[in-house]
Amino acid sequence: MTAPVLLIPTAPHADNIAIINIDNPPVNALSHAVRQGVVEAITEAEQNKNIEAIVIYCQGKTFIAGADIKEFGKTPKEPHLPDVLQRINQCNKPIIAALFGSVLGGGFELALACHYRVAVRGTKLGLPEVTLGLIPGAGGTQLLPRIAGVKLALTMITSGKPQKVEQLEDYGIIDFLISANNSNKDHLLTETILFTKQLLEKNQTSKIISQQPMALNDEKKQAAQVLCQQFRDKSAKKSRGQQAPQSAINSIENSFTLPLNEAMEKEREYFVACRGSAQSRAMRHAFFAEKTAAKLIHSGEIKSTPTEIESVAVIGAGTMGGGIAMCFANAGINVTLLEMSQNNLTKGINAIAKRYQQAEKRGIINNQQVNQCMALITGTCDYQDLDQVDLVVEAAFETMAVKQQIFSQLDKMCKPEAILASNTSYLDIDEIAKATRRPEKIVGMHFFSPANIMKLLEVVATKYTDTQTLTTAMTLGKKMGKISVAVKVCYGFVGNRMYACYGREANMLLLEGATPQQIDNAMVQWGMAMGPLAVNDMSGIDIGYQARKENTARPDDPCYFAAADILVEHGRLGQKTNVGFYQYDEQTNKRSPDDAAIKLIRTHAAKLEIKQRSDISDEEIQQRLIFALINEGAYILEENIASRASDIDAIWLNGYGFPRYLGGPMCYADEIGLEKVVATIKKFQRQAGNTYWQVAPLLEKLLAQDKKLTQ
Ligand code: 3HC
Repeated sequence: MTAPVLLIPTAPHADNIAIINIDNPPVNALSHAVRQGVVEAITEAEQNKNIEAIVIYCQGKTFIAGADIKEFGKTPKEPHLPDVLQRINQCNKPIIAALFGSVLGGGFELALACHYRVAVRGTKLGLPEVTLGLIPGAGGTQLLPRIAGVKLALTMITSGKPQKVEQLEDYGIIDFLISANNSNKDHLLTETILFTKQLLEKNQTSKIISQQPMALNDEKKQAAQVLCQQFRDKSAKKSRGQQAPQSAINSIENSFTLPLNEAMEKEREYFVACRGSAQSRAMRHAFFAEKTAAKLIHSGEIKSTPTEIESVAVIGAGTMGGGIAMCFANAGINVTLLEMSQNNLTKGINAIAKRYQQAEKRGIINNQQVNQCMALITGTCDYQDLDQVDLVVEAAFETMAVKQQIFSQLDKMCKPEAILASNTSYLDIDEIAKATRRPEKIVGMHFFSPANIMKLLEVVATKYTDTQTLTTAMTLGKKMGKISVAVKVCYGFVGNRMYACYGREANMLLLEGATPQQIDNAMVQWGMAMGPLAVNDMSGIDIGYQARKENTARPDDPCYFAAADILVEHGRLGQKTNVGFYQYDEQTNKRSPDDAAIKLIRTHAAKLEIKQRSDISDEEIQQRLIFALINEGAYILEENIASRASDIDAIWLNGYGFPRYLGGPMCYADEIGLEKVVATIKKFQRQAGNTYWQVAPLLEKLLAQDKKLTQ
């Protein structure tokens, strides 16, 4: 293997400029060998009298995209990144960074430590550390405010969102932005050398950000402090429960209240504390869980290349079908929307247009993009019009009879190689596949509502689905910007099967005397984006009611989801009827507690002979809901419905509002320890005296072997 860093002289074009060439695929992360290589190359270049300037250049698809995240958690090896950047900073020959691709985290910090920066258009600059539970740890919180101001530093660092160089043109970060007609990577090196030659000719050899003073007068300092406080308050809401954004703001504030060397030391302290925190471990786990989920495990099967999908059809133009159509259109794919009546079709297409207009109003998409997307969507009421599409997603009513009838029809009308997917949330897709003559081309594509916004896509393989169909559905998910996770068939697949256990406990707690508000508040306080009962009101309580009716394997227990069922039977379907677990203001849709719902549930609990308790604590609510999730996840893993614990986590992070800083239910179980998990489940088993709290054998097995779920 060749070294990831080489020093290359540029003769004959410019024999006084050397290139530090970094080649560390896939993203040129600053692994130990790269850090060491950069330091060695600088020393060599410094010692070579012929060399007057150095360019840092990267092979592959991007400049350095950050520190090597895989190294976090291991014993750090010297040279540490801040030392490397100091070496760059103090080099007695100018160092110029040639930027392209995604210049992120430590990569951006390295660029800021260089004496000059040249970039091609389209290059993205960012400090995404907070998304990993970290803060920039190699000068980012000090150098960015120095060169671009406190406000931009606060915005970029607390959001973690990269920005294109074009948007940052006024901030002085880039010294030379290559002109539009030369702006691709091929020209980058030539242009950077040209820029460097000019620097040398002008004898302009030193422009170091760390030497720029942060000289704010009292008034400006006060204004900057107010700004920091505003960002603290905003982050406390937006990144609820997360430590890193707050530490980052403190560190940025140090940039104008402390001398640089002290502020740098403090930045490192914050960084090291964050790196060792459970939150950062969880967020790093989340990062890799999402990347790994995209990789299919091919158990002995031959890998397959995905089929090119140029046109699709969506069956059903309701909220779900419309959202799915938008996902395809957003990815530039032609969509035919099929409805049974012209009236429903028109309604569906109008609803899509309205959703795009709303997105345009909010600045998420521009008018040209709206028109492009709408032009890709056409409607029909005739199955015959689907004869040439490459893939169909059915998003019709959730009953087996309806689905089988649709699939049988599609099978007759679509070309033989077309893939037929169902968006069912619960139903047995093996049975749906049997209604066709192409069971190997049937797959589940389970989108989450609102489909055009939610990141998760469960790709469900039936026992007949062939590898090419599965690969195609996964690839298509990626093209639509989804986190696609391959799962197998069972009632509710991974996400909803686990959610049923979570909801079951919320319902049991209601029967035992907890109020909807108490349950929801406890779960929001724990970290969930929303409480389970508010979610249920939003999605419609009748949907689960209907699904439970269809479920032949439903537990034979009159208490199972009895609270939800009694509400539905009294016409309380959730937000759509203005009453459910809560009541909703007709005008504003504002939620408030409803004694009528509580009374209905308690009367029903009395009939079921369930004793009311007044001692239900928030901790009991949180543990019963979360441990029910963990236990079911372990069953799912053991049954191989999900291939990896991290896949389950990717599902819960992207489809169910599980807090990213806890990494997903499986990661959380490992973090608190399987011993505690098993002991608590056994306690609930004794307490409840029902069949639900059986410890999953996998948990006992892993505990006995001192292993983890996510290992
Ligand atoms: N360290 C280690 N591996 C990384 C990595 C990193 N910083 N960034 C990406 N990778 C790996 C991915 O895991 C993936 O590996 P795989 O092929 O084995 O699954 C591979 O690189 C390709 O990544 P993507 O599939 O994400 O490729 P894309 O082209 O879609 O995106 C990217 C590229 C925009 C660079 C994206 O990978 C990304 O955002 N990476 C994270 C960047 C980041 O967070 N940097 C900050 C790190 S923390 C830091 O620098 C601390 C410092 O302040 C001290």
